Amino acid sequence: MIFIFIIFFPLAQLQHTQDHQDRCPGGSCSPQLGDLLVGRAAHISASSTCGLDGPEKYCIIGYLEEGQKCFICDSRLPYDRYSNTNSHRISNIITTFDPDRKMKWWQSENGVHQVSIRLDLETVFQFSHLVLTFKSFRPAAMLVERSKDFGQTWKVFRYFAEDCSLNFPSVSNETADSADDIICDSRYSGSEPSTGGEVVLKALDPVYEIENPYAPNIQDLITLTNIRVNFTRLFTLGDTLLSRRRRNPQDKYYYALYNMVVQGSCFCNGHANRCTPVDGGRGDVFTQVGMVHGHCVCQHNTAGENCERCQDFHHDTPWRPGGGDAADFCRRCNCHGHSDMCYFDATRYEATGGVSGGVCDNCRHDRTGPQCERCRPFLYQDPQRTADDPHACIPCDCDPAGSLGDGLCDALSGQCICKQNVEGRRCSRCKPGFFNLRQDDAAGCKACDCDPRGSVSEVCDQVRGQCACRSKVTGRRCDQCQAGFWGFPFCRPCECNRLEADRWVHGSLFMCEQMRKESDY
Ligand SMILES: *[C@@H]1O[C@H](CO)[C@@H](O)[C@H](O)[C@H]1NC(C)=O
Ligand SMILES: *[C@@H]1O[C@H](CO)[C@@H](O)[C@H](O)[C@H]1NC(C)=O
Repeated sequence: MIFIFIIFFPLAQLQHTQDHQDRCPGGSCSPQLGDLLVGRAAHISASSTCGLDGPEKYCIIGYLEEGQKCFICDSRLPYDRYSNTNSHRISNIITTFDPDRKMKWWQSENGVHQVSIRLDLETVFQFSHLVLTFKSFRPAAMLVERSKDFGQTWKVFRYFAEDCSLNFPSVSNETADSADDIICDSRYSGSEPSTGGEVVLKALDPVYEIENPYAPNIQDLITLTNIRVNFTRLFTLGDTLLSRRRRNPQDKYYYALYNMVVQGSCFCNGHANRCTPVDGGRGDVFTQVGMVHGHCVCQHNTAGENCERCQDFHHDTPWRPGGGDAADFCRRCNCHGHSDMCYFDATRYEATGGVSGGVCDNCRHDRTGPQCERCRPFLYQDPQRTADDPHACIPCDCDPAGSLGDGLCDALSGQCICKQNVEGRRCSRCKPGFFNLRQDDAAGCKACDCDPRGSVSEVCDQVRGQCACRSKVTGRRCDQCQAGFWGFPFCRPCECNRLEADRWVHGSLFMCEQMRKESDY
């Protein structure tokens, strides 16, 4: 057997190229099919092998009893085309293109009905079909089962028997109604041919139309970590093994397999078209040509041995199998540069109508929100800076005299919560028509209360509360006449006559003052 070794590229390099190709070449993400047995001699086993402990005799059936020919099997050492052609270990069934492949086969011990052959894979693979090519008669009854949990639990794929109702009475011998029905197939168990006969098992019979290849029941059928073939009944041509009429009749009855092919591929949920060795990162740097490896080189921002999850920081959409279109890709979270971690939140995904399900973790730079899009409480977004600026969150700085809510402001506009008669982003100004901002004033500012008869507007000075008075009017509220005028709100000049003035030098002014005061009422 010729082994050619290729050097496996370091994982980091693969990671790098993967960032630049989001789609599989040609749009199709199907890894290549191959024989899962190739390169896995150490992972197949048989419960019975002829000559493992030392030479054993076996015979082949001739048409006459005297015509039978007998041979020796000795499997203590592996097969070697020059020195050890009598070795019939299970590894002989792996397909090679050696010229002597017809000389090489696996054989069970004589007369043992219950024999199983098992392949243990290192991860989940996708199974396509199984072909067994027998050197002996095919078994009168057998079954194929698989495990998806590394051999913890097993599930039968299919039963095979010439007489299904005799060998597997509880199993239906009818054609299956759906792809996942378990049936007994009698097509592959006849006594003809006596050598070279095949048993074939397809994971998915093309008869059934598969609507969604990623439906759970279909995935269940085509994925496995282990496959086991149980031969349960030898084909004995009517002999009973315990018959004493002949000498050692059972040495003619055994299972012998030239070849077993477990066709499959790595299982990547539609997100890769190439696979590398599972333990590639752990120093297993050589790999056999033609071997089907199990570690997917994931596309579409997926990750995991089988691309069964989204890559870190790509949880804005839920993971889906398929990869047929961009809707099945894992999308990057948007955290505005304030976090490198996120998770998928189904509730948010639904609430946004399927737009975004990513929730950022541990936002930096004083930020919060599912996309770190908001500033934390008591801070707000500086309108001069962009949302991804690490310094964009600045303090609300609300005026304690004018604001409520202990200084909380709107995270976007920075607007503080103002008392009733206060305004401004910081709540630091009285509203027009109010004055005297004070912390101990529940409404923040007092009304100007300008006298409409004496003022030109309702607005007063913010601090002192001085209203804007008409001419000849005075007072904070503009509710009195200036000195020398009387009769608010008309405020006529005090026109005292000269005579009286002479008489009441000071009295006339006094009188006018009096009259002005009276007119207030
Ligand atoms: C197949 O054989 C193994 C032993 O080799 C046995 O444990 C298992 O139960 C058998 N499977 C069935 C379905 O009989
Ligand atoms: C199934 O088995 C029954 C006998 O148990 C037989 O009558 C019937 O023809 C079989 N059906 C098929 C499709 O082989």
